[in-house]
Amino acid sequence: MKGVLITLEGIDGVGKSTQHRLLEQRLRETGLTCIVTREPGGTAIGEEVRQLLLKMREEEMALETEILLYAAARAQLYKELLRPALEAGKIVLCDRFIDSSLAYQGYGCGGDLNYIKKVNAGATEKLSPDLTLLFDLAPQEARQRRGNIDQKSEVSDRIENRPEDFHYRVREGYLKLAAANPVRIKLLDASLPAVLLLEKSWVFVKELLEKKELL
Ligand code: TMP
Repeated sequence: MKGVLITLEGIDGVGKSTQHRLLEQRLRETGLTCIVTREPGGTAIGEEVRQLLLKMREEEMALETEILLYAAARAQLYKELLRPALEAGKIVLCDRFIDSSLAYQGYGCGGDLNYIKKVNAGATEKLSPDLTLLFDLAPQEARQRRGNIDQKSEVSDRIENRPEDFHYRVREGYLKLAAANPVRIKLLDASLPAVLLLEKSWVFVKELLEKKELL
């Protein structure tokens, strides 16, 4: 496909949303337009699935249900937004993608990685991002940052509220994914100040856009 898919990844509380906003702004300042979206969500159906996935409730959601619901939201995003945008040559910035399912449901919850890959390949016709920016931060620090945000907004969700060791496994999972895909996944130190982190990310984004002759 002619367009470019850039995904942002990391454990909860690394400052991903800020980087998403800053990158979008940088692209705009550079004279480029981009489409921004997020997972789970990004479409009306996907946002409904997001509510189902993140709502705090008494009963446990089965891991298989969780894997399939994330993939269902992703399938809708792919059909409705990603494929048309990428076919039209657009730049898409997506907050989370399949790596999140591998890190959270796979490494974090112990789900079968090959099954998760297979289900998601089916949901997205094997779409793989052109570039993934992985924001890495120690889970203790991420928890602290999350605490600050939650105090302000009074919201925290079912996944965020999992015990500390879950977030350690997710982080380790992400690091394994980065080691296995060094060309696509770029590891960034999220303890850096936001503006400096943007400059580090921009180096990779710029390189990709130049390669694709979009810049
Ligand atoms: P967000 O807070 O970054 O919007 O993400 C919502 C939560 O969903 C976050 O805790 C990570 C989790 N998640 C998964 O567990 N698997 C997935 O495939 C995706 C996309 C998100």
